[in-house]
Amino acid sequence: MKTIFSGIQPSGTPTIGNYIGAMKQFLALQDQYNCYFCIVDEHAITVPQDRLKLREQTLGLAALYLAIGLDPHRATIFIQSEVSAHAEAAWIVQCNTTIGELERMTQFKDKSQKNGQASVSAALLTYPPLMVADIILYNTDLVPVGEDQKQHLELTRDFTERFNKKYGTENQPLLTKPEVKISKQGARIMSLQDPTKKMSKSDDNAKGYISMLDEPAIIRKKMKAAVTDSSGKIEYDVVNKPGISNLLTIFSAVTDQPISELEAKYSNSGYGEFKADLGEAIVALLEPIQANYHQLLASNELDTLLDQGAEKAALVANKTLQKMKNAVGLGRKSRRKKV
Ligand code: AQP
Repeated sequence: MKTIFSGIQPSGTPTIGNYIGAMKQFLALQDQYNCYFCIVDEHAITVPQDRLKLREQTLGLAALYLAIGLDPHRATIFIQSEVSAHAEAAWIVQCNTTIGELERMTQFKDKSQKNGQASVSAALLTYPPLMVADIILYNTDLVPVGEDQKQHLELTRDFTERFNKKYGTENQPLLTKPEVKISKQGARIMSLQDPTKKMSKSDDNAKGYISMLDEPAIIRKKMKAAVTDSSGKIEYDVVNKPGISNLLTIFSAVTDQPISELEAKYSNSGYGEFKADLGEAIVALLEPIQANYHQLLASNELDTLLDQGAEKAALVANKTLQKMKNAVGLGRKSRRKKV
């Protein structure tokens, strides 16, 4: 069975964009692959977080993973900071990555431009190596992500190639070079208020996203207020009609209907009817997930599952970390006592 790793940051409550671009894929993958689904809280602290909120969101994201139907007996579900190998391996990755490579990352450019370089943490530049570490620790073959993460995956592929060449042998590569798995449709869901901008859970404008925990009335209201255009025609044209095209993409992903079918179905309808139906489709998708979520949070089950997940993950991650340490010469080859 091939191995998959993917993670989501607990930097807010996941949006319908995170669901379509990542979580929905996780569900389909857990039957066919050896899956590691991580709550990447170390990534979340690259920008300031309220510590209590972060803890709440971390647990909340774990509950959402389970609430959508991920099975902890099939997939390994865990919190990144509870497996220390991630931070340790990230250091080795950083030492084998150039600043030039990191400065080219568009997410760094976007966020540092938005906030000013002097005031952002150094980790905004160096978190891609942590992401590389996340992936390689599990001998990952495939990484299912949205389009926006493609560049980081390329960095991972370049790193493994370079590391293997430097420290491994041709017949025995040390690290597995992963493939990127990007879903063609719905790969990039845009803001409901600005369809040229990615939908993000940390957007200051809550009208720009639908959170997976938004109440039905809020979902309907946000859909109603979603930006479209003045033509009134429901057709997919990303360049000239980004707003309605984004809504068609969401509708298609949420109901599993092809966009062409939706265009035909709503060819004689106005935006109002279309948006109302989309609102209902999202409510129908999220309501049962929300019910599962609240049930899980009220039980003790979540803590036990996360303990087990971290233990299972650490077994594999520590083995790869030791290989990396041996390769670069860190520590002693064999230690009698582990600390
Ligand atoms: N708008 C999106 N459309 C499709 N996929 C998306 N993803 C994120 N936004 C969209 C995918 O969700 C996974 C988890 O993302 P993340 O939380 O680790 O980081 P992110 O991409 O930075 O997500 P956000 O929501 O934009 O978070 P903030 O606001 O904290 O930066 C990834 O697979 C991503 O592709």
